[in-house]
Amino acid sequence: MRSAARVIYLDWNATTPPHPEVLAAMQAAAEVAWANPASVHGPGRRARAFIEQAREAVARLVGLDARDVTLTSGGTEANNLALSHAFGDEAAGSGAAGAPSAGSGAAGAPPWGRLQGALVVSRIEHPSVTRAAEGLARRGVEVAWVEPEPSGRVAPEALAAALDRAAAVAPVRLVSLQAVNHETGVIQPVAEAAAIAHARGARLHVDAVQAVGRLPPEAWAGADLVSVAAHKIRGPKGIGALAVRPGVRLRPVLLGGAQERGLRPGTQDPLAAAGFAAAARRALDAPARYAALAPLRDRLEAALIEAGRAAGAAPLPNGEGLRAPHITNLSWPGWRGDELCAALDLEGVAVSSGSACSAGTAEPSPVLTAMLGPERAASAVRFSIGEETTEADVVEAVRRVARVLARLRSLPAGS
Ligand SMILES: Cc1ncc(COP(=O)(O)O)c(C=O)c1O
Repeated sequence: MRSAARVIYLDWNATTPPHPEVLAAMQAAAEVAWANPASVHGPGRRARAFIEQAREAVARLVGLDARDVTLTSGGTEANNLALSHAFGDEAAGSGAAGAPSAGSGAAGAPPWGRLQGALVVSRIEHPSVTRAAEGLARRGVEVAWVEPEPSGRVAPEALAAALDRAAAVAPVRLVSLQAVNHETGVIQPVAEAAAIAHARGARLHVDAVQAVGRLPPEAWAGADLVSVAAHKIRGPKGIGALAVRPGVRLRPVLLGGAQERGLRPGTQDPLAAAGFAAAARRALDAPARYAALAPLRDRLEAALIEAGRAAGAAPLPNGEGLRAPHITNLSWPGWRGDELCAALDLEGVAVSSGSACSAGTAEPSPVLTAMLGPERAASAVRFSIGEETTEADVVEAVRRVARVLARLRSLPAGS
């Protein structure tokens, strides 16, 4: 996508530009749905209709029931809600997790009780999963981490071994595996993971934030809980959802009012919901549009490798095997990913090193570090195209990359 300034936007994994239909739906909602959706009067009911439309559109998109969709502030909150649902508060008893534990009155005692059970989680999940898992571990949950293969795939055998390891310590309640990796685009073996988890009596949570609206529903087949974010499917930021199978009981992470059946207290946003509904409806047939992007991504990848070779060092692709059709992640030997991104930004090419959530930190990507080590991670740049990216964008982006490489190459070492 280009703006008037001819920026070539190749960072569709960080976020997507809102679709005109989404903006129109939000504009229309703004005029009639300003009331509080929880109010019982007419204006409140009008606002609530937009909330319910979003719930239904998301349910249709992920293939679950609207009654089992909880709207959240985005993918991060959906992931936190999913992980915490499986671990009850020991002291407070079942169903009361999140409430202060019965024994918390003692001076100096932590306000939240200890938790029981085990969680299996891959090392390459988004930080909203890995950090949530670390938080659960601090509260007593046994967390078994699964390392990826160098290809970027989490092997089902490694997942099964981690489950068995964790089960020796505590009953495994939940396995969390993303559908598509946010940095490499590698598609994870979700169906196999579901079979492995279910055979051992555990549930499977799938962070489908990078899969929904890009891949068909098989990408999260078998999941008991599915996380979605509107802004990755051309919807607005600040809204997402956790959809669950019937019978999965969630526990609120936030405490407050009765919105979202008490599972997500806080006044809901009808405008964001209107945009989410429009985006989710559009996303139903988006996988076909994305599949058609694969040849363009392949041409981009090949041309970038050629540009690197011409500048003295061919970049190395990160992520092998089955990949989402719109991402290429390359490590550039001799360069730093963040410096390349900054130089490309000056040339009007918007890409990222690591993911947007870790932008501004000097830390190399934990995903690529787990796959291939810190050096490979430090020199990585992710290019992600989208349904508006054209052949001309790709050709021009590669021309600018070549210019940046030539300029950086000509600088004296250490400058
Ligand atoms: C795989 C994955 N999960 C979760 C998230 C978090 O979603 P949000 O930005 O809506 O909080 C992202 C965002 O980049 C993501 O890529």
